[in-house]
Amino acid sequence: MPPLLDQIDKNNLPKHIAIIMDGNGRWAKEQGQDRLYGHYQGVESVKNIVEGCGEIGIEYLTLYAFSTENWDRPQYEVVGLMELLVNTIRKEVNELTKNNIKLHVIGDMNMLPEYALQELNEALEMTANNSGMHLIMALSYSGRWELLNAVKNIAHQVKTGKLNVEDIDQDTLQQFLSTSGLPDPELMIRTSGEFRISNFLLYQLAYAELYFTNVRWPDFRKENLYEAILDFQNRERRFGKTSDQVKVKEDR
Ligand code: IPE
Ligand code: IPE
Ligand code: MG
Repeated sequence: MPPLLDQIDKNNLPKHIAIIMDGNGRWAKEQGQDRLYGHYQGVESVKNIVEGCGEIGIEYLTLYAFSTENWDRPQYEVVGLMELLVNTIRKEVNELTKNNIKLHVIGDMNMLPEYALQELNEALEMTANNSGMHLIMALSYSGRWELLNAVKNIAHQVKTGKLNVEDIDQDTLQQFLSTSGLPDPELMIRTSGEFRISNFLLYQLAYAELYFTNVRWPDFRKENLYEAILDFQNRERRFGKTSDQVKVKEDR
């Protein structure tokens, strides 16, 4: 069998991959270490996967790094994670630019401490003109927060006469999501053996192919990514149609 990478059909890549990076805490506990150690090791996986996605030509990569629910974790873990996120972004921003990667952040920024916001904004500015892969960090993010936020903003527009209720359609709604302007993910990967989406991209994942692996996030590497992409490429995406209808379109 040729290496996994060579088996991937470069003409049928998902344009957008979204990943729930899960299992850091259990990975660390399994080694008799503190949960934070798992988060530190998780950064190595992030670097490896960002590089891997860039190499094969994935255009958009969204990483779920911190959910709005994660704020309820023990204080020391929340603080440790925030510091890790900020320090990593600070350290890696030059590398991002070197690789022409444009950073985006989605989530409830009001919840972030001031120092984290500042670092983030600097990194966003520094990578704003990059034109290669889009790296979207979901930070203090949840799908329900995002939908609620969109509803409030749309209601405000209607109230102030900027929008007619009759004109609200799917496009309008998408414009008010934090992912406005980004295509929906075609492939969603969750590591660590949990089979749920934990409030991630509830609207955008409507037709994503879901891929679950037992591999804990700190162990997840390019080869695991290739496996997920190959699995994706062997699926038939029907979007409500019949298999025959989809095949006719492909044959044309
Ligand atoms: C994922 O790993 C990282 C975050 C949620 C921030 P976890 O910290 O959830 O690790 P487990 O699931 O407890 O093993
Ligand atoms: C989802 O993981 C959030 C992130 C990976 C950032 P969690 O570990 O928080 O999800 P649950 O609690 O197992 O559903
Ligand atoms: Mg978890």
